[in-house]
Amino acid sequence: MHLRILWATSLTLSFFSGLVSGGDSVTGLASADPNDTIYRDVVVIGGGSTGTYTAVRLRDYNNTVAVIEKKDFLGGHAETYVDPTTNYTINLGVVVFAQLKVVTDYFARFNVPIEPLAAWGTNEYVDFATGKAVNYTPPSSEAFGAALTTYTTHLEKYPALQGSFNLTYPVETDLLLTFGEFVDKYNLSDMVPQTFRVNQGFAPLLNISMLYMFKYLNSDEIDSLAQGFLTTTRHDTQELYRQATAFLGSDSVFLNSSVLSMDRSGSGVQVRVQTPAGPKLIVAKKLVSTPPPLVANLAGYDLSGDETALFGQFFANGYYGGVINNTGFDVSLSNAGPGQPYDVPTLPGPYAFTMNQGLALVHYGSPTVLPEEDVKADILATVERIREARGIVTDAAPEWLAFVSHAPFNLMVSNEAIQDGFYEKLFALQGRRNTFYNGAVWHTQDSSVLWQFTEDYVLPILLAAL
Ligand SMILES: Cc1cc2nc3c(=O)[nH]c(=O)nc-3n(C[C@H](O)[C@H](O)[C@H](O)COP(=O)(O)OP(=O)(O)OC[C@H]3O[C@@H](n4cnc5c(N)ncnc54)[C@H](O)[C@@H]3O)c2cc1C
Ligand SMILES: *[C@@H]1O[C@H](CO)[C@@H](O)[C@H](O)[C@H]1NC(C)=O
Ligand SMILES: *[C@@H]1O[C@H](CO)[C@@H](O)[C@H](O)[C@H]1NC(C)=O
Ligand SMILES: *[C@@H]1O[C@H](CO)[C@@H](O)[C@H](O)[C@H]1NC(C)=O
Ligand SMILES: *[C@@H]1O[C@H](CO)[C@@H](O)[C@H](O)[C@H]1NC(C)=O
Ligand SMILES: *[C@@H]1O[C@H](CO)[C@@H](O)[C@H](O)[C@H]1NC(C)=O
Ligand SMILES: *[C@@H]1O[C@H](CO)[C@@H](O)[C@H](O)[C@H]1NC(C)=O
Ligand SMILES: *[C@@H]1O[C@H](CO)[C@@H](O)[C@H](O)[C@H]1NC(C)=O
Ligand SMILES: *[C@@H]1O[C@H](CO)[C@@H](O)[C@H](O)[C@H]1NC(C)=O
Repeated sequence: MHLRILWATSLTLSFFSGLVSGGDSVTGLASADPNDTIYRDVVVIGGGSTGTYTAVRLRDYNNTVAVIEKKDFLGGHAETYVDPTTNYTINLGVVVFAQLKVVTDYFARFNVPIEPLAAWGTNEYVDFATGKAVNYTPPSSEAFGAALTTYTTHLEKYPALQGSFNLTYPVETDLLLTFGEFVDKYNLSDMVPQTFRVNQGFAPLLNISMLYMFKYLNSDEIDSLAQGFLTTTRHDTQELYRQATAFLGSDSVFLNSSVLSMDRSGSGVQVRVQTPAGPKLIVAKKLVSTPPPLVANLAGYDLSGDETALFGQFFANGYYGGVINNTGFDVSLSNAGPGQPYDVPTLPGPYAFTMNQGLALVHYGSPTVLPEEDVKADILATVERIREARGIVTDAAPEWLAFVSHAPFNLMVSNEAIQDGFYEKLFALQGRRNTFYNGAVWHTQDSSVLWQFTEDYVLPILLAAL
């Protein structure tokens, strides 16, 4: 405690001495109202899955934090739709978790009940391109399991990918095959249709480099597919984040807030933030950055040449979701593409309409980020095609009750960049300029394994630097 006060004082001094030469407009802000300058051990940008987890755990280690989140809730993709009349909840984003101690501990500390995920309900296959039902049966679970067993023998060749992005150079040729090429090479067609549904947001699935497939379809994911996933008993993943928000406290969580500018060049970091209560200056020892690191998504950052050059190489998929009323569908419908390779439908398009309390939960994937209005229009056009093909008429027209964009999703780089040591250079940024990075780009799109990654990798190097 005493140490922290000493530190804050010394940083205040260096901050003010910096102002003498720098002459930043922050001067007026800091002197006019001392409450607008906030001292913390760590400032975390982005309060999604990894930002929230990192902040909670830093507090466990007695570090003070400020979490800067642009949306008006913590949790990132963990949105919950709440029916306004019944309060019934539907997870719009994150639903399932792996059976890992890091998961059960996290939910238990916040008294959020979790339970095994029930088997998926009944489902019919439709070619969403035509709206027509198709006579299609996916590979049996035995066939899927047999293919996954073979897949696992390949996965096990790359143990260093399980907890990190450690590659050996030249990169093994199998890691640079597309999923489609890998499936052909090893006769794994029986795993493709289910993988299309498990790897939502990866598009086009058959073009994804095996490096990213092995990262996502990792041994924890395979275990979950075999043993079953966990899910929140009250189908409300947001509950975890409401509890985390309360635990962190209103002096640590800044919602509806955005970075105006930052300076990471000194012995600590200074971040100017626009909050609903006006601009604030956050002075911290270290910064943890968790937004998807596209340059366009890091407004206000003082990016170095290295950071800009690396982040500029990412490309992203589009992934969207929503809830629609009055579709008239009486059963859940999944997209199938008969006649296409492995019967996998072409995206952009919806993955499925999953019926829940008469409402349709929809997820939509795209190889590229699309305008939200185009996605919504394409989804409604698909609903219309299906209604026509099935002869459905309802009193009221289909209506959006919720729509969320999860884009940019699933940031990847080209095989050339991977071979050129992209991930070594990316990880070399860790700790530089008082900055630590966390989030899906550094591991994979999976909350459970990202919390494990935070425990095993991010927290140790961050705590050692504090
Ligand atoms: C529809 C959907 C379903 C999913 N289902 C599951 C599932 O069932 N199980 C599972 O384990 N994983 C699931 N995932 C994946 C999981 O959500 C991600 O792996 C995880 O959220 C990644 O964590 P993150 O911290 O990197 O990013 P996020 O959780 O997205 O957090 C990033 C946060 O940063 C904020 N932000 C962005 N830019 C800025 C900025 N400039 N300034 C301030 N804040 C900013 C965002 O608003 C967001 O809150 C799903 C994802 C989606 C989209
Ligand atoms: C600073 O915040 C404290 C506690 O919220 C409050 O009592 C005080 O009046 C504030 N000072 C200014 C200058 O606004
Ligand atoms: C945090 O502080 C509390 C109270 O001072 C102390 O009991 C605890 O051991 C500290 N935890 C760590 C990880 O240092
Ligand atoms: C964030 O903004 C929304 C509207 O955009 C508002 O409803 C909400 O109350 C705000 N939350 C905070 C904490 O400022
Ligand atoms: C829904 O929740 C709100 C606030 O949480 C409560 O006031 C209301 O009574 C609830 N409605 C029902 C039908 O349970
Ligand atoms: C990855 O490489 C780093 C350093 O290069 C090393 O410290 C770490 O142990 C490696 N991780 C794995 C899982 O091999
Ligand atoms: C490929 O796998 C199928 C099962 O999906 C099997 O019937 C067939 O014999 C395999 N072919 C080869 C060449 O291994
Ligand atoms: C869905 O539509 C029906 C019929 O129009 C209506 O009665 C119901 O309230 C709607 N549900 C929601 C959550 O808006
Ligand atoms: C397939 O992926 C590569 C990068 O790995 C990309 O350059 C190419 O455009 C992709 N093709 C399609 C059809 O998406």
